[in-house]
Amino acid sequence: MKKLTVLSMIAAALLLTACGDSSTGAEAKAATETKTEAPMKCGEGKCGDAMKTEAAAKCGGDTKSAGTEAKEAASKAVEKATEAVKETASEAKAAVTEKATAAVDAVKEKASAAVDSVKSAASAATAAVVSAVNLDDGKALYAKCAGCHGADGKTKAMGKSAAVAGQSAADLETKLHGYKAGTLNAHGMGMLMKGQVASMSDEDIKAVAAYMAGL
Ligand code: HEC
Repeated sequence: MKKLTVLSMIAAALLLTACGDSSTGAEAKAATETKTEAPMKCGEGKCGDAMKTEAAAKCGGDTKSAGTEAKEAASKAVEKATEAVKETASEAKAAVTEKATAAVDAVKEKASAAVDSVKSAASAATAAVVSAVNLDDGKALYAKCAGCHGADGKTKAMGKSAAVAGQSAADLETKLHGYKAGTLNAHGMGMLMKGQVASMSDEDIKAVAAYMAGL
């Protein structure tokens, strides 16, 4: 738009200059002609009118050609300006598209990161709940064992077994499975222990072993 304005101003200036010059020249010429051709008529006021008409006609003629030039220049300027605007618009469009794409990508990334963190938080919460439930289950299951093994797990059951406290969950689990299967009989009381764990599921054994390991 700036280009167009400047060009229009130049065209207007050219037009004015052309008309001014020709008008001055025409007036001068008309004045000369009037003086030489009809010196007597000037006093009647007709001379002034004739001069004016002639000058106006000449100026008009010049103005016409100057106007055409200006028109051409203006249409060229409009063409150039249109091209420039088109170019700028397409550049702007490309820039906007680029930025929009980048913004969408950033949002996508952040969203997926948020989803990931929610997922991991959810799975952590699930794990915490599961382990809490397991420990609670283990504590409830141990209630019937505490009479012989002690609430703190340090009593030698019937003066024979080792203390369950201080043993690893994995070791305790293996021993309980041994009693349940009837394959473990460390102190001759394996059958008694078999009766204790016979009705326990694998999950129960895992839970009570985990609880004893924590004593
Ligand atoms: C009536 C008493 C009694 C009760 C109740 C009892 N136990 Fe025992 N427990 C024993 C005796 C006795 C042994 C030794 C068995 C042997 O000869 O191997 C033993 C052994 C064990 C051992 C092996 C310890 C080791 O390392 O030598 C574990 C583990 C155990 N009991 C867990 C339990 C659990 C769990 C319960 C409850 C579900 C339980 N016991 C209930 C008496 C009992």
